[in-house]
Amino acid sequence: MLERLPELGRVLDALGDPRGLHVVGGTVRDLILGSPGTDLDLVREGSVEELAGELAERLGGRAVVHGNFGTAVVTYDGKHLDLIQARRETYPQPAALPVVEPGTIEDDLARRDFTINALAIPLPDGEALDPFDGRGDLERKTIRVLNERSFLDDPTRIFRAIRYESRLGFRMDPETERLAREAIEAGLVRRLSGPRVREELIALLGEPEAPKSILRMAELRLDQAVDPPLRAGLNAVQRLNRLRELAAEYEVDAPAWRLALETLVEPGQSVEALALTKRDQQLVEGAPADARELVDRQPGGAELADLAARHAPDAPLLALAIRDDARLRDWFERLRHVRLEVTGSDLAELGVPEGPRVGEILDELRRRKLNGELDGRAAELRAAQELIADG
Ligand code: CTP
Repeated sequence: MLERLPELGRVLDALGDPRGLHVVGGTVRDLILGSPGTDLDLVREGSVEELAGELAERLGGRAVVHGNFGTAVVTYDGKHLDLIQARRETYPQPAALPVVEPGTIEDDLARRDFTINALAIPLPDGEALDPFDGRGDLERKTIRVLNERSFLDDPTRIFRAIRYESRLGFRMDPETERLAREAIEAGLVRRLSGPRVREELIALLGEPEAPKSILRMAELRLDQAVDPPLRAGLNAVQRLNRLRELAAEYEVDAPAWRLALETLVEPGQSVEALALTKRDQQLVEGAPADARELVDRQPGGAELADLAARHAPDAPLLALAIRDDARLRDWFERLRHVRLEVTGSDLAELGVPEGPRVGEILDELRRRKLNGELDGRAAELRAAQELIADG
């Protein structure tokens, strides 16, 4: 089966002697499902640092050894190879990061999230290790935890379960779903750090099947269990579908996860807890409120341009998803591209000294242009001369 892994041949050549290494986790899962990706996850018992360096050298790439226990990433030709030291994990407290110690390959499979990910194939090629019947669950299209503490130890796995359900068209088995609901009701999701929730939301909402995941979040009440509380449901999904169509139509450059998150936050809600980048936070907080204003007030001309630009492109896109409106379409088709043809140096040539007056005149010209009063460079220069003459 391993011959179906596109990158493995080259890595095997580079390894020389591959014994002791196993292909693991998602790589094996996707291989059995018949959709192998290019990423390769390898585990071995014992340290990986030296091997990572050697591999990188032979593949003409780079090895980055992570500060945390026994993981290295080798990148070469735009590809990724994760090298992991087999480990045993114990969770000192629910939702906290685990204590990690060296372990056997069996320990390493037993620490994993779901049976479909607890699979390993020894190199150079052999029978899969499958201690939890992951292959059976792949056939049954089932997401199943390995033990009943799984979601308590690591509630991010609830997001992962939903992500796999949607992506693979699988379903949690009843016991796994019961455990997920129990962990959610017990408030364990709120114990996760903001950055951990952020990463899960970005992964979940960034996938093509995000609409399915949003409905599932609502069903399990996971939406209300995060900080800040979100509102998932049919409305959010309908809005997201519309947003995606519009984003494609106008070739809008906004990450899919962010647009999806904006359908889930209440206007006026702070998302500080998620520790997004400053720009993402501003957009996620500002766009829903500005979209409301664009829809309710329906401004035109320069006023529309100012309000749309404040949290662009998200706010005007969200507004358009809420209500189709010729003025907003005009913003995407025309106004957002409007640039003045005169510049500060034109004004200098007309005798305006450097200083705040330059900006004021350019602002006024821009306002007039957006209102359709100026057409072309000559008209802009004439208007500039008038403004200068008026002081
Ligand atoms: N894993 C886990 N618990 C987590 C995160 C990861 O047990 N909270 C394990 C899973 O066995 C997973 C492996 O670590 O297969 C690697 O994690 P990741 O790269 O996130 O998962 P993939 O299975 O490769 O999934 P994806 O296809 O989404 O990349």
